[in-house]
Amino acid sequence: MITTRIIATGACVPEQIITNDDLAKIVDTSDEWITQRTGIKERRISSGENTSDLAIGTARQLLEKAEVSAESIDLIIAASVTPDYTTPSLACMIQKEIGAVNAVAFDITAACSGFMYALSVADKYIRSGVYDNAIVIGAETLSKIVNWEDRSTCVLFGDGSGGAYVEKSEDCGIIQEELGSKGEIYDILTGGYTPCSNAFNDVESGVDSMWYVSMNGREVFRFATKSVVTSIRNVLEKAGVSADELKYIVPHQANSRIVEIVSNKLKIPFDKFYMNMDRFGNTSSASVPIALNELNEKGLIERGDKILLTGFGGGMTWGTMLITW
Ligand code: UT7
Repeated sequence: MITTRIIATGACVPEQIITNDDLAKIVDTSDEWITQRTGIKERRISSGENTSDLAIGTARQLLEKAEVSAESIDLIIAASVTPDYTTPSLACMIQKEIGAVNAVAFDITAACSGFMYALSVADKYIRSGVYDNAIVIGAETLSKIVNWEDRSTCVLFGDGSGGAYVEKSEDCGIIQEELGSKGEIYDILTGGYTPCSNAFNDVESGVDSMWYVSMNGREVFRFATKSVVTSIRNVLEKAGVSADELKYIVPHQANSRIVEIVSNKLKIPFDKFYMNMDRFGNTSSASVPIALNELNEKGLIERGDKILLTGFGGGMTWGTMLITW
């Protein structure tokens, strides 16, 4: 059976570290509140790098680690809610900079589930025999759309990018997945609204602030715990794999309390969940691949291990994938 196997992982984040204490200097918050409510201690914030710079950094690493030429890349899919432009796509900018002249390149958007959705699309192209390989990247500079005067959101997010180079395989790879969307509650997490203004229509009033990330934190929290628990359960059940067989779960790095609840509800030991939100915060579509890359770089996973990636976010959306490494 043809599957899609992750051959290499990579990540690229800005150098600038902003701690909780740094944030307490600009909004009414504290290290204690942020740590207790989220598990986040610091995050990387761009000091000029745009999303494409981070994404290109990741793509270059992927080529190097996988030891493949840029010309051999068939497909580039980037996931982002903060691309440099509406057009060109981030993926086309990556294509140009790395010289992947033979690739088809496009973006998708599924917020914090973006990497899961992008990997799923790449998997379908590969399984169907259309392409043999792909670069899949999640990249964000959320600092562009965060309201730095709103303590309820600005403490949560960070900038960064992560990704994977995947190839057609006949043994290991993606073995099961579940993607889901619940558009009827899209308004509990929004950002980047662009008003419909033109020469014949006044700018809609009161929409300027809708550029910024706005969130009903408690509703998103409720949605996250429910969707992640159900989708992990469904994926394991469909694959006939027990939680005991999993080496690691790489969850979206939004809030350690969400992960604790998921761990309790599924009765999966907390230490099977790989977390680095204390150092990177919530980097949306980049969060799962940045964590996966760390896990991989540390040598904590070996070929043949079963790992599970799971994300949730704006849309609302979720995605869970079971992989034999
Ligand atoms: O990628 C997907 C994105 N989002 C998420 O996954 C977020 C899911 N939700 C959450 O993680 C949590 O809901 C938050 C961390 C956002 C908030 O935690 P919470 O325990 O739900 O707090 P809350 O919103 O109920 O606020 C509790 C209190 C409020 O004060 P009062 O009304 O009790 O006096 C807030 O004003 O905490 C206050 N507060 C803060 N205080 C200090 C809110 N933000 C802050 C802050 N520092 N940064």
